[in-house]
Amino acid sequence: MKKISKAIIPVAGLGTRMLPATKNLPKELLPIFDRPMIEYALKEASEAGIEDIIFITGKNKEMLQYYLGKNYQARHTFTEDNRSIKPERPTKSELNPNNIVFIEQKEPLGLGHAVLCAKNIIGNESFCLILPDMLAKGKPGCLSQMLQAYNINKGNIIGLEKIPIEDTYKYGIVKISDKKNNVCKIDGMIEKPRPEKAPSNLMIMGRYILQPEIFDTLEHQNPGHNNEIQLTDALITLIETQKFTGVVFDGKTYDCGDKLGYLMANLQYALDSEANNSDIRKTLVKLIQTLES
Ligand code: G1P
Repeated sequence: MKKISKAIIPVAGLGTRMLPATKNLPKELLPIFDRPMIEYALKEASEAGIEDIIFITGKNKEMLQYYLGKNYQARHTFTEDNRSIKPERPTKSELNPNNIVFIEQKEPLGLGHAVLCAKNIIGNESFCLILPDMLAKGKPGCLSQMLQAYNINKGNIIGLEKIPIEDTYKYGIVKISDKKNNVCKIDGMIEKPRPEKAPSNLMIMGRYILQPEIFDTLEHQNPGHNNEIQLTDALITLIETQKFTGVVFDGKTYDCGDKLGYLMANLQYALDSEANNSDIRKTLVKLIQTLES
């Protein structure tokens, strides 16, 4: 079986839920604690052995392109704790600047359309899809967990996570069977159902391993929700002929396209940072005491 080496990262979204912060700054460059949001997706991809990244960009994303392009070598010189700058060469497992490609999605026609933009570059290979504003915090990373399941199950793999039932209208939701540990069969999907219509409380949390047949399906896909080409609609078509396996992520996903999710991710990464941990913890405890008094 050929190793999966390519990942698509769509970054064309306008970040409307994070305005005015995203008026000029791409949301992928907003910091989560001490580094831009996009860094976490790149680290997760690199740890999973991904070598080529295809960014699907949109309008007003020049800054992101600049950050990932010209500054890329510089990024590799930061140490983990960001305290010092180490002039060292990137290791083999890290991404090479030559292996980052940008494709502009000319119109905001939806996630399915964004994925379709990468058709010619991906060709006939299986690939990963990472939605970077869904920040998946876990060890090993979410994609690595999913690749383990892929090596056994093949086919398509979708990252899942339990959410409160009242939140189903925000995400794609799956219908599952045959759950063993964190792996299950996916029997159906529905995009953003109201809680009473949701087949489970398992959301599609923004990580996918997909087979190349999705491109043909997307090409024939009619616009759905919001008059956009929805990826979930194409997956629903493909599930009739292909195997879909769900992996319930052993970790926690923060929806950083949303102000509360963004704040929670910042707090959690701050609390987990070794360098500042105790000061941050003390300050937060004091703040909570003030709020409660
Ligand atoms: C997309 C998918 C949805 C998934 C979500 C995760 O929705 O269509 O199934 O749950 O990403 O972020 P979007 O955020 O593009 O509306």
